[in-house]
Amino acid sequence: MNYPYQIKNLEEYKAAYTKSVKEPENFWAEVAENFVWKKKWDSVLEWNFSEPSIKWFKGGKLNITENCLDRHLATNANTPAIIWESNDPEEHHRVLTYKELHFKVCQFANVLKNNGVKKGDRVCIYMGMIPELSIATLACARIGAIHSVIFGGFSAQAISDRLQDAHAEYIVTCDGGFRGTKDIPLKSVIDDALIACPFVKRVIVCTRTRTAVSMIKGRDVWWEDEIKKVETQGNPACPAEEMDAEDALFILYTSGSTGKPKGVVHTCAGYMVWTNYTFVNVFQYKPGQVHFCTADIGWITGHSYIVYGPLSAGATSLMFEGIPTYPDAGRFWDVVDKFKVNILYTAPTAIRSLMSFGLDTVNNKDLSSLQVLGSVGEPINEEAWQWYYKNIGKEKCPVVDTWWQTETGGILISNLAGVTPHKPSFATLPLPGVQPCLVDESGKEIEGNGVSGNLCIKFPWPGIIRTTYNDHERCRQTYFSTYKGLYFTGDGCLRDEEGNYRITGRVDDVLNVSGHRIGTAELENAINMHSGVIESAIVGYPHDIKGQGIYAYVIYDGTHDHNLTRKDIAQTVTHIIGAIAKPDKIQFVTGLPKTRSGKIMRRILRKIAEGDTGNLGDTSTLLDPTLVDVIKEGAL
Ligand code: WT7
Repeated sequence: MNYPYQIKNLEEYKAAYTKSVKEPENFWAEVAENFVWKKKWDSVLEWNFSEPSIKWFKGGKLNITENCLDRHLATNANTPAIIWESNDPEEHHRVLTYKELHFKVCQFANVLKNNGVKKGDRVCIYMGMIPELSIATLACARIGAIHSVIFGGFSAQAISDRLQDAHAEYIVTCDGGFRGTKDIPLKSVIDDALIACPFVKRVIVCTRTRTAVSMIKGRDVWWEDEIKKVETQGNPACPAEEMDAEDALFILYTSGSTGKPKGVVHTCAGYMVWTNYTFVNVFQYKPGQVHFCTADIGWITGHSYIVYGPLSAGATSLMFEGIPTYPDAGRFWDVVDKFKVNILYTAPTAIRSLMSFGLDTVNNKDLSSLQVLGSVGEPINEEAWQWYYKNIGKEKCPVVDTWWQTETGGILISNLAGVTPHKPSFATLPLPGVQPCLVDESGKEIEGNGVSGNLCIKFPWPGIIRTTYNDHERCRQTYFSTYKGLYFTGDGCLRDEEGNYRITGRVDDVLNVSGHRIGTAELENAINMHSGVIESAIVGYPHDIKGQGIYAYVIYDGTHDHNLTRKDIAQTVTHIIGAIAKPDKIQFVTGLPKTRSGKIMRRILRKIAEGDTGNLGDTSTLLDPTLVDVIKEGAL
């Protein structure tokens, strides 16, 4: 495959950027010409940010899987689409060529149809990182069902909330999943989730760990049995459903500053164009290269840069089931060495964690295949950046620091590997089509360079969020109402003298723990579920490995053993949300610093959690200023 829209040098970047701003419709029409459409669009873009209403390629008809699979069959049928590496280094890896993947996706799409799934139905996918996860995802897209992939670390309660919100009647899961030394009982978690979801009609269970599972008559079926049925039906092909450009492709839940996670909705055409365009340009993918994105498909990074971006580009995408430290901290480097990985895309938290193990597990590996390194999910500190660049890339691989969000569908601000310069800890420049701006608290744009403010985007790009599922008003309020006429990212940002962007972190009540987004309100709700907890307040604090750690201030009723209570609270959070949201520190307090109007002054709690108690600023507006000293003394 060739990519006529791949930018090759700095001049081309500048020209593309300028054109994307001056003539956005022409610019994106030219990119979109390179995809397979069942019917061409009537208009390239219609939009307003006030409702919001954003329509890219209106009137166009397509199926994203024809772009990810069918179109590669003529020339690249035998190119590996997915290379899969097991959690267990002793287990043989798997390779699925485009031809094989196409066959399996069609086959499972027929399984979904046999089980009653129709266009527009929501299908929840709760699986480990095995090829069947990609197959199930693409099979949904094939028949126009809306997938909602839920990360395997979420609890039954969290799944149940999401199933209800999306009214998902179909589930695809596994018996269990392997991660490091753990065997996660995925089906059993689903069973617990379904107690509160009687509307679920069918659970398709794929075999992975062969842990004992309960199979309920009339509801639960085995993936393998269903495949056999399709085979006895003579394995008919599965025609790709004709989708409208703006039909929903998937829902992905993400946390925000309110208690309930929201279902971010992406649509077929814009998301396809955006993930493909950004994949090809940021990573500078060349046919034949092996692309290894270490994320889980349960997060947006996996959706966009393991599945849709790479496959729509005919690339070879490596999928890894395990974790970076199993069986030892050299596992990523083993995988790079084994499959001659060319592009490695991972998170700062993984880099910092692996750094702490020293170079012994790095230097005995052949990493010479690497050509591009990528970082995503949180700000990358200079030290981690340098370590990555020197020890992994041997100072010959550009590092792309890619800033984006679940809501943006794909990368918005990043250097383009080897094409535009990198700069440690800077995401650098916007992609063509992205018009960032910085605003002050009052919403006034801060122009010029060497400034900082809240990061907003002025103009839609094809991959922008369209709505939050079943609650359009929430989408408007969260992203389009803080600053009139702008999409608000929730991030603080600095623009240096050369116009490079550096993301400084969230300015709302959202934490970023190991690259995972956790809303403080959601976490407080979970902690408050514990029977002895009266009230709690969560703040983030700098954490060497996780980026941000979770610090909980808890008012607790009772005289129980505090260490045991801490464990009980952590267990409550694990039960309500999942282990990823467990607090790192829990401080018991007698009260929380509140203003006379009852608002918790998080600024003070943040400073105490950071250990920066020298100057807590003005505390005179507090209801009880003496409380602050007590909290300070008890700080952990
Ligand atoms: C938030 C989005 C993007 C996919 C993974 C996370 C932070 C993301 C960077 C980066 C600094 C970053 C932001 C953003 N973030 N990438 N390269 N530099 N910060 O997706 O869960 O939707 O979180 O992650 O704060 O708002 P997400």
